[in-house]
Amino acid sequence: MQYQLINVEPLTASIGAVIGGVNLADKLSEPVKAEIQHAWLKHLVVFFRDQELTAEQHLSLGRDFGELHIHPAAPYRHDNPALMAIHTDADSHRNNGEVWHSDVSADEQPPKASILYLQTVPATGGDTLWANMYAAYEALSSPIQEMLEPLSARHEANYSGFYGDHKPQRANPHANHPVIRTHPETGRKALFVNQGFTKAILGLSREESSALLQFLFQHVKHPAFHCRFRWTENAVAIWDNRCTQHLAVWDYFPNTRSGTRVTVQGDRPF
Ligand code: SIN
Repeated sequence: MQYQLINVEPLTASIGAVIGGVNLADKLSEPVKAEIQHAWLKHLVVFFRDQELTAEQHLSLGRDFGELHIHPAAPYRHDNPALMAIHTDADSHRNNGEVWHSDVSADEQPPKASILYLQTVPATGGDTLWANMYAAYEALSSPIQEMLEPLSARHEANYSGFYGDHKPQRANPHANHPVIRTHPETGRKALFVNQGFTKAILGLSREESSALLQFLFQHVKHPAFHCRFRWTENAVAIWDNRCTQHLAVWDYFPNTRSGTRVTVQGDRPF
């Protein structure tokens, strides 16, 4: 596609693109939305710099992608559980997303998209990495792809103690999902196990499941599948959880990194 209304600068050959020429605070026209959607499906995570969004505009951007998802346990802002707080500072004992994961994959219908807006960023550090799960699947040999194809895995979340005194919105989720899922919009196959939530592959012995998951978690870490985003104040990232994983690097303690995430409900993986 030749983009007519937006500028798209790929970050790597595999994943990630910075989109220019768009003010996300505006009511976006249908043709602009269609070009953003196209770039998002192609590059899997897209970035917008220098955006000034109110909470309502951030939520409205999420609604352009679908129904909003409520995180099971994370604190939120503006009294709205759809506006998840992403905040780390000198008093933090942990950071969101420090291991490779796809957001809340333990839900029966895990989020399709996440939209992170950071208003405060450290002078250095605090980058986020994303990994392309189509590429991770395609890099496996045919015999391993064929072995994984019929398998499902158990995903579990355990947020107890994770968010301090904050009372969870709902019980810890758990669900079984295919190890290889088909993206409902592109029809492409993607690896769908992650270190954050996937606990076991069903039907295998404990040793087999653990060895296979360790191999796949290691495989996902190959830099050829990755992009790395250097945040600047008021940047926005929109990623596709159905075909990516991400990891937030906590290398800026005791500095503050802060913003909000709006997450969009997805379908049951197949
Ligand atoms: C997350 O959504 O997992 C956090 C990502 C980040 O803070 O960069």
